Amino acid sequence: MNALKITVFFIFFSHINIHFSQNNKIIPEPYEQTIKQGVFYSIESPDIITESDFNSAATLLKDALKKLNFKSDKKSKNIIKFIINKNLDIEEYTLSINPKEIQIEASSNLGALHAFQSLNQLILFNNKKGVLKIQSQIINDSPRFKYRGMHLDVGRHMFSLDFIKKYIDGLAMLKFNNFHWHLTEDQGWRVEIEKYPELNNIGSFRDSTLTGHYTDKPWQFDKTRYGGFYTKKEINEVVRYASDRGINVIPEIEMPGHSQAAVSSYPELGCTGEQVGVAPLWGVFKEIYCSKNETFDFLEDIIDEVVELFPGKYIHIGGDEAPKTNWKACGNCQNVIKREELKDEHELQSYFITRMEKYINLKGKQIIGWDEILEGGLAPNATVMSWRGVSGGIEAAKMNHEVIMTPNATCYLDHYQAKDTGNEPLAIGGYTPIEEIFNYEPIPNELDKSLHKYVIGAQGNVWTEYMKTSKQVEYMVFPRIFALSEVVWSKNKPSFEVFEKKVIDFYPILNDMDINYSKHLERLEE
Ligand code: ACM
Ligand code: ZN
Repeated sequence: MNALKITVFFIFFSHINIHFSQNNKIIPEPYEQTIKQGVFYSIESPDIITESDFNSAATLLKDALKKLNFKSDKKSKNIIKFIINKNLDIEEYTLSINPKEIQIEASSNLGALHAFQSLNQLILFNNKKGVLKIQSQIINDSPRFKYRGMHLDVGRHMFSLDFIKKYIDGLAMLKFNNFHWHLTEDQGWRVEIEKYPELNNIGSFRDSTLTGHYTDKPWQFDKTRYGGFYTKKEINEVVRYASDRGINVIPEIEMPGHSQAAVSSYPELGCTGEQVGVAPLWGVFKEIYCSKNETFDFLEDIIDEVVELFPGKYIHIGGDEAPKTNWKACGNCQNVIKREELKDEHELQSYFITRMEKYINLKGKQIIGWDEILEGGLAPNATVMSWRGVSGGIEAAKMNHEVIMTPNATCYLDHYQAKDTGNEPLAIGGYTPIEEIFNYEPIPNELDKSLHKYVIGAQGNVWTEYMKTSKQVEYMVFPRIFALSEVVWSKNKPSFEVFEKKVIDFYPILNDMDINYSKHLERLEE
């Protein structure tokens, strides 16, 4: 390089550095991030060089670059290159940003997708009008937990397909890899089933909905028909959309409880045979599936259709909050207890779940159940979702079962996020501020080190009794989901103070994404 060139080079780059207020903060925090000298700078869309393995990551990157609206359509001298590196773990990636070239190394599309999400945050932070500028750096990153989940209850309130996709975008951005889709409830059956059309004709709609809080008596109802369901075509679309973003969709088909919508569609599935309505009220209901053979025939048919829709390995079978009132008074259920030599209705629940597990295993799938499935004996291959605290998770891990932690005190995003609930939209109750989620440690202290491997991750749950609109869901989820992403992903979690600043710096991106987030962190700062 001659002197003139060196001078031009210096002026050019010092100019950029002076005017370049760079944000290199990524959520969740990468394992290693080393900032280097120099800047990747382009006013044309860089060339993307990719391998077919990384097609969906490369497509997302192309779409993200399109949004930068480069004015020049000249061919760029800069490139973004995807490289297969089989030495990396399945979700691991390396992102190297150099002045002329960005390299993404991964062993699978999952790793490449995570690299894209990190790169996209750097793009979103630093670039607006037709210019792509990113500080040179090297990121090496991989997740702490293999299961990083977010749940959404569409039974109590239902959300558009566009919103489901937007929710999935949010999950993908923060490197979650499982979307737990709670599809059946007392208040509505939300998945199309061809063999049993009344599930959708009757069970997908309720005549009325509670208007205030459950504890406000007397209860008031809106006397308005509410409901709907996702067609198989729509579900296929969601599953594909999620898969293109590295997210597995887990359907939840509740049994034996939370099934009043199904029992109202086919009263013979209940113990009494009485016609009940789809529930207009929140809570736990005694109208659960009877444990007679006809119910298993029905549920096996449902599973047959569900496994066709969801290619992932898990089917969530619920198992929570099933009052045994009707089983105690039912001749059929009592006969099953005798025939199977069961001790009581808890063992009957265990029989119910284990029998369904066998069927689901035969289909090549594994069950997840809420921690009540421990009562009366755990089905042999079940993964337990510990929600009533962590003791169920500990018990399951001690039995060498895999566990997903979702303790309600810290992982329920339907709780209030502010102490002063007077200024908050109506919520179910509780108080789970973002800091509490951020400080959550999924591996319980009391769990022996040899059993840590059974805790495969954690999940945030979004029950929607009090979330009538998608804007309300967003408000409850953002920004607390950022805290959970740090918990489940980061092997290098920052301090809460650093995290807090990262989240506040993220607000403009949330604005651009049209996400309705709560600003409690900002208020804390004031
Ligand atoms: C639950 O919250 N009933 C799992
Ligand atoms: Zn019965």
